[in-house]
Amino acid sequence: MANPFILRVIPPFFPFCNRTIELQQLGSHADNKANVVLFSPRRYGKTSLIRKLQSDLSDKGFFTVYVDFFVATSENEIARRISQSIYSVLHERESLLDKGVRFLKTFKTFRPVFKPSPESGFSFSVEPVSSVMPGIDLIENVMEELGVFIHRESINAHIVFDEFQEISELKKSPIEGVLRKHIQEQQASYFFVGSRRRILLDMFNRKNRPFYQSAIMYPLRPLPDKELVSFLVDRFKEGGKSCPIRVAEKISEKVSQYPYYAQALAYNIFEISEDIVSEDDIQTGFNNMLASERYGYEAVVQGLTGPQIALLKALAVDPVSKILSTEYMNRHRLSAGGIQYARNKLEKLDLIEKHNNTWKIVDPVFGCWLAGY
Ligand SMILES: Nc1ncnc2c1ncn2[C@@H]1O[C@H](COP(=O)(O)OP(=O)(O)OP(=O)(O)O)[C@@H](O)[C@H]1O
Ligand SMILES: [Mg+2]
Repeated sequence: MANPFILRVIPPFFPFCNRTIELQQLGSHADNKANVVLFSPRRYGKTSLIRKLQSDLSDKGFFTVYVDFFVATSENEIARRISQSIYSVLHERESLLDKGVRFLKTFKTFRPVFKPSPESGFSFSVEPVSSVMPGIDLIENVMEELGVFIHRESINAHIVFDEFQEISELKKSPIEGVLRKHIQEQQASYFFVGSRRRILLDMFNRKNRPFYQSAIMYPLRPLPDKELVSFLVDRFKEGGKSCPIRVAEKISEKVSQYPYYAQALAYNIFEISEDIVSEDDIQTGFNNMLASERYGYEAVVQGLTGPQIALLKALAVDPVSKILSTEYMNRHRLSAGGIQYARNKLEKLDLIEKHNNTWKIVDPVFGCWLAGY
């Protein structure tokens, strides 16, 4: 039977572990038209959760827009993505289409372009009506038009900007202020989602930033142990294999309930196990998982400087409360020059964090690999 574990964003109707309270609380914030910052380390399930939430909201009649800002490297590109996402929803939802047609009449910034496509009959993209309009004006217009639409139709709207921290890569751009201005005028719930926590949280918690205190902070936690254990048992069963509870407990523990690694380890275990999963399969599955994850880890390390790598390796084997203490630096032969910069940089990249007064590697499996497991 096919492997029942999934290594990508979970589509809304696929089996999903827990997140019941989160769905209820986030749904309530959406109902209240509140803005939310949803944050966690990478691969904790933010996007999967948002997809599910928006699917539920859409069933309740919400107008749901999902925009991914990942590597959106210009203002033009951001405007295009927002516009394309709006068109996609209007296109998918028949009942909204009538309203959309009315919307199209006032929509002057982008136009949809339909192209024949072998798979779905046609595909569509959007392009700006004016090729000379500056990117920031395109954003202004699109946000303005969205506001008009929401207001005129008095529709419940839920808008997600995923990987929102990416906008801070646009140096010297007024984009933060422009988005903030429109968002605060709209009767809609905006969710700002991201995994580069230092950068994202600074946008909302620093006094001099346009988004200062404009949203509810909502950290996403790892999966609860008990629920993860029964999820794993159920999924193995679905794939035609039996996973004893104590083995599922070990899997959950081995990955510290980290959503992605729970799926990835279970996926690898499923590949090698007999009909009944054994404890010995865990280590073999773990090694196989690392064998494929290491390429990603190597790419991360390649982008770092010597002092940054040295500090990462030190923290992988020896988490500590004071990185800058002479004793710690001597113990790990860290040179004083640049250590503070290295720490700040690694924190910005969300590779290390201070948790319960201790600096440690954010991703425990990456930590294992760094420590030479
Ligand atoms: N509730 C859940 N139950 C089971 N598996 C989950 C759950 N949430 C996420 N996962 C798994 O975790 C992985 C990461 O999910 P997702 O891409 O949604 O996370 P993310 O936080 O958006 O990641 P990134 O920070 O990379 O954008 C996927 O493999 C998915 O299968
Ligand atoms: Mg995501």
